[in-house]
Amino acid sequence: MVDIHCHILPGVDDGADSLETALEMAEMAIADGITHVVATPHANGEYPFSSELVRQRRDEIQARVGDRLKLATGCDFHLNFENLQAVHLHPDKYTINQKDYLLVEFADFAIPPTIDDTLHHLHLARLNPIITHPERNGLIRAQPEKLRRWIHQGCYVQVTAQSLLGRFGQDTRRLVESWLDGGMIHFFASDAHNVKSRPPRLREAFDMVANRRGEEAATALFRDNPLAAFEGRPLPYVPEPEGEFEDAAFRRRKRFLFF
Ligand SMILES: [Fe+2]
Repeated sequence: MVDIHCHILPGVDDGADSLETALEMAEMAIADGITHVVATPHANGEYPFSSELVRQRRDEIQARVGDRLKLATGCDFHLNFENLQAVHLHPDKYTINQKDYLLVEFADFAIPPTIDDTLHHLHLARLNPIITHPERNGLIRAQPEKLRRWIHQGCYVQVTAQSLLGRFGQDTRRLVESWLDGGMIHFFASDAHNVKSRPPRLREAFDMVANRRGEEAATALFRDNPLAAFEGRPLPYVPEPEGEFEDAAFRRRKRFLFF
């Protein structure tokens, strides 16, 4: 499996608190059947992001684990004004493995009205935004039609594997199951922060997805799609999302009114 969202690097955010923890996380990932990890530290008001430091820390961990695990760098990219200016100037600093996929994290307290434009501009800059763990964002949960619209705009969705295991409550687990059935998920990732409460494990969630949707879908969501993002290729598995999104409803209303 390929994990595109993991706070494995020590001393850069609220993820691994030491080199030892980072190495333990790497061993845990390997034992779980993970072959590739993208180290994605936060870039937000609390944790400033230095791509040089991030790459240096990656090199240190990579040297210690050898070729048993392939480590790349990316960023848990908070959608704020400063970050957006910076990513347009130097996308490589933030994208997964310096290709063209970008993890984007929404604020918990507000979805700005300009968000559609923001996502559109990322597309114009030839970046593929991957919306991280929308199932854990109260505002998106309350307005799933917005998420559908962003998917129709060409965004992808990454869900936290532990959400499916009930780590964030049973409502979140049920929501992930319904999104899974409705074709609204493109990636599962660990979003690991440590070895205890937020470990770098995917296997258990893989098995649950395989039981529910079949082995092929699980392989696509845990391996083939994330590997494609890692290597900067188009995603091999893009299901058609079920349900309405705002634009479709609007178009139907317009047709009814004018024709
Ligand atoms: Fe994260």
